[in-house]
Amino acid sequence: MSELRFPEDALLNLVLWGDPQIASMHPERERNLEAACRTVASLPAPADALVVLGDTAEYGRATEYAGVQRCLSIAAKGVKHIYCVPGNHDIRARHFAGQCARFARFLDSVPNAAVPPRGRYWFSSDLNGCRLLFLGADKTCFEGSYLSPTQLHWLRLKLAEAKRLGMPALVFNHQPLKRTNGLPLTWAGAGSWRGSVGDQSDALRAVFKNNGPVIYCTGHLHYGVSRYTVEHSGDLHMISAPAVGCQNHGPNDAPAQGIVLSVYKDRAEGRGVYFLNGAPMPESVPGAVFSFRLKAVTVGGQET
Ligand SMILES: [Fe+2]
Ligand SMILES: [Fe+2]
Repeated sequence: MSELRFPEDALLNLVLWGDPQIASMHPERERNLEAACRTVASLPAPADALVVLGDTAEYGRATEYAGVQRCLSIAAKGVKHIYCVPGNHDIRARHFAGQCARFARFLDSVPNAAVPPRGRYWFSSDLNGCRLLFLGADKTCFEGSYLSPTQLHWLRLKLAEAKRLGMPALVFNHQPLKRTNGLPLTWAGAGSWRGSVGDQSDALRAVFKNNGPVIYCTGHLHYGVSRYTVEHSGDLHMISAPAVGCQNHGPNDAPAQGIVLSVYKDRAEGRGVYFLNGAPMPESVPGAVFSFRLKAVTVGGQET
C-alpha cells in the first residue's frame, strides 16, 4: 500500500500529473504511467481528484488513448474524480472537431472521469466547495494554445463568481504563462513565448489579474520538481507539474513525478512525489515542499 497520506481537514486533495504522452516509440512512458496509476490505486484513502495536465497522447492516436484509458482505469480505484485537459500533442496533428470528439470518447471510457461538453474542451466543475476550471485550445495549434474570446469571457465570469461566493478557484491548462515557472530556461532556454500559452498568454494573465486568488496548474515543460515548480504573482499562484510519463529534465530528472496538492479555504499545501512508488520527495529537493496563503475572500467578494 502507498505511504501517501492526505490531510483529512483539507477541502480538496488533488494529484497533479503532467504529460503522460503515450507513444508506441516510447514504451517506457506507458510503463511509468501504469506504475503511477497503481500507486494511486493503492492509496489508503481515495484522493478527491486526479488531474492530467495535457499531452495525454504523443500523436493523439486512438491506440495511444486506449493505453491511457487502460492505465487510468487502474488509477480510478484510488480517486473519486479524474479530469484531463488537452495538450498541444493531443490536438496538433489532427482535425479539430474530430479530435475533440475522440478526446471525449476516451474520457467517457475512463471510470470516474469528467467528459467535456460536445465540441469544446473547456468546462467547470465545483467540488467540495472549490471551483475547478479546465481550459483547452479552441483551434488546432502546434505548440501554444489558442483560447478564444468566448472562452476567456467565460473564464472571467466563472472566476468572478467564485470570488463572490468565497470559493477557492483552481484553473488547469496545459501551458504556463510567458516567463513564469522558469521559462525560458525550463523550455531549453529558447524564445520569449515558447513553452507558454503563446499569443493568448497576456490575455489570460489579464483575466487572472483582478479575479484572484487563483491557483493555475500546468504541465508541458517536462521539468522535474525544482525551484521553478511554484511561482507567485500577487494573488496568482502558478504550479508547474512535472511529467508522469515523459522524461523529466532539470536537476531532478527522475521518472513518473507528480504533485499532491491540498487546498484549504485560506491556503494550499503541496508536495512533490515520486509516483513509481509513492515516495514523497525529500525536503532537500528545491520546490518539493511548498505552501502559500490564499487571500481570504468572504461571501460577497470582500477581501480581508
Ligand atoms: Fe509534453
Ligand atoms: Fe506540451
